Amino acid sequence: MLIINIGCLVGADRERRSHLRGPAMKEIDTIADAWLRTDGELIADFGPMSRVPAPRENEEVVDAAGGWLFPSFCDSHTHIVYAGSREMEFIAKINGLSYEEIARQGGGILNSADLLHATSEEELYAQAMERVNEITAMGTGCVEIKSGYGLTTADELKMLRVIARIAGSTPMRVRATFLGAHAVGRAYKGRQSDYVTLVCDEMIPAVAAEGLADFVDVFCDEGFFTVEDTDRILTAAARYGLRPKIHANELAVSGGVQVGVAHGALSVDHLERIGREEIDLLSRNSTVATMLPGASFFLGMPYGPARQAIAEGAVVALASDYNPGSSPSGNMRMVMSLGCIKMKLTTAEALNATTLNGAYAMDCGRDYGSIAPGKVANFYITRQLPSLDFYPYAYATPVIRKVYLRGSEINT
Ligand code: NIG
Ligand code: FE
Repeated sequence: MLIINIGCLVGADRERRSHLRGPAMKEIDTIADAWLRTDGELIADFGPMSRVPAPRENEEVVDAAGGWLFPSFCDSHTHIVYAGSREMEFIAKINGLSYEEIARQGGGILNSADLLHATSEEELYAQAMERVNEITAMGTGCVEIKSGYGLTTADELKMLRVIARIAGSTPMRVRATFLGAHAVGRAYKGRQSDYVTLVCDEMIPAVAAEGLADFVDVFCDEGFFTVEDTDRILTAAARYGLRPKIHANELAVSGGVQVGVAHGALSVDHLERIGREEIDLLSRNSTVATMLPGASFFLGMPYGPARQAIAEGAVVALASDYNPGSSPSGNMRMVMSLGCIKMKLTTAEALNATTLNGAYAMDCGRDYGSIAPGKVANFYITRQLPSLDFYPYAYATPVIRKVYLRGSEINT
């Protein structure tokens, strides 16, 4: 396929980079008045219209009519497989309860676990696919999905099988993360250490035996799992080759960043509550600092210090955290705008954080996240835009006209 008359091609990447660190995130290459050619599922080449190649015999030619072309968002942290919704907690929060108080009263994650237990695998898949279709239409082309609303071996496997089924039925790239340690399952109330043993000795081997997860996660935070619990789980998972991507420092300065980096985590996520020490550590390592401004927005929490982390040289990604409790939205364009408005990132930084660095946080940076020859042809075309900065600025104006995944147009 040959796409012509692209008003501006955003995210052009001749070097096929896998990620951008610190100040390098300030750059995003654009080509005004451009063309792009795909070859099957991959990006073949691109350039300015002044040197557009002649279409090949039988080549489909698409006229972008001045619309802009962006690399698909790469959302490296979601929980989109869940049953039902939790707007009753939304109202409880409006009436003054905090996320932690709701969790302590047995709501929150355990509430979703009860709902998931009572929902068939088929129904769970149908509900999750609605969200998959929703985020596809909003420009996401690569997504990580976590388990963690099962909290028993059988229900965690059920969730992960649903994720595998999604991976087989969407053209989006899907990465699966086992999050058995999201909360202590109801049957283990007051016996957290025994629950951790269950995660290590029963769940992880079962998940690995079916090859259902790429990564392992732990909610390492105050009121949830300790640094010691996390260390046990990550050690057990390493035996099965599961790399960590963990929840850390959302509710407290938890030591989560340190234990994650010590285990070679691909990413440590949330980071609303980190200080100098954590930023130093992240800037000296390749563990991605993934921040989730949608959760800060929805729960009224502080925003992660993305500005400082970039200045110090960390690899920063932004993700949606799409989940029923702390971020019921997978809108990555909104995440990008929150990055600009609340975290003071430039448009280029926020775009890099939601595309290329998100891909890297899923170990997919070589194949996704920018418009590079040889990368997968995942992109979308917008209407004409007055400038790149208009995109995060007009944060709720719909602009996407066409979505392409693996080189094919998707009916959204
Ligand atoms: O990333 N923090 C832990 N897990 C999710 C919330 C899960 C829920 O409340 O259902 C998060 O915010
Ligand atoms: Fe999360």
